[in-house]
Amino acid sequence: MRVLISENEISERVKTLGRQLSEEYSNRPLTILGVLTGSVVLLADLIRATSVPLRVALIQAASYRGAETTPGQLTINQSLVSDLRGRDVVILDDIFDTGNTMVGVYEAVRGFQPASVRSAVLLWKTARTEVDLEPDYFGFSIPDEFVVGYGLDFNDDYRHLPFIGVMEDEDLKRSGAKQNDC
Ligand code: IMP
Ligand code: MG
Repeated sequence: MRVLISENEISERVKTLGRQLSEEYSNRPLTILGVLTGSVVLLADLIRATSVPLRVALIQAASYRGAETTPGQLTINQSLVSDLRGRDVVILDDIFDTGNTMVGVYEAVRGFQPASVRSAVLLWKTARTEVDLEPDYFGFSIPDEFVVGYGLDFNDDYRHLPFIGVMEDEDLKRSGAKQNDC
């Protein structure tokens, strides 16, 4: 596997994003809404890089991919979401690929009547955007390659890697049969 973004580069960038959010949301009722499962590593690091009071909430989005690396049907489970009414919500996901997940989560969040909604992702595959939405905050724009690590998985593996790595063709071929990609 090839390292695309090192642990150190991620750490520096996440600290910068944390400072930026702290400036823009000081004196605002901020809730960071992590999209399970891919955002968990970023969520843990980002909230510790902020210096303003905030709440953490979770929502689950899954698109069945089989052993493919292309997205399938999107399912959103909002049963974990706490009250967002009147709050300034920042939806946090690992990656903005086609953007369909973010659009689906936006729609779900609007139903909770928040004061505002923005989106933040670590990675943005700019060449693959299919929706009329762009992330408000992003860590890195990346080329159209399948990446893993720092929360991102392939077939539910590799989330624990501290860096972002590119899956080589032989890694992809060694995949299992099914992926329920959350
Ligand atoms: P989107 O709906 O196409 O934007 O896809 C978003 C979801 O697809 C992310 O939350 C990831 O779970 C998954 N995804 C997209 N690209 C990658 C990738 O390169 N590696 C791992 N997961 C990915
Ligand atoms: Mg995901």
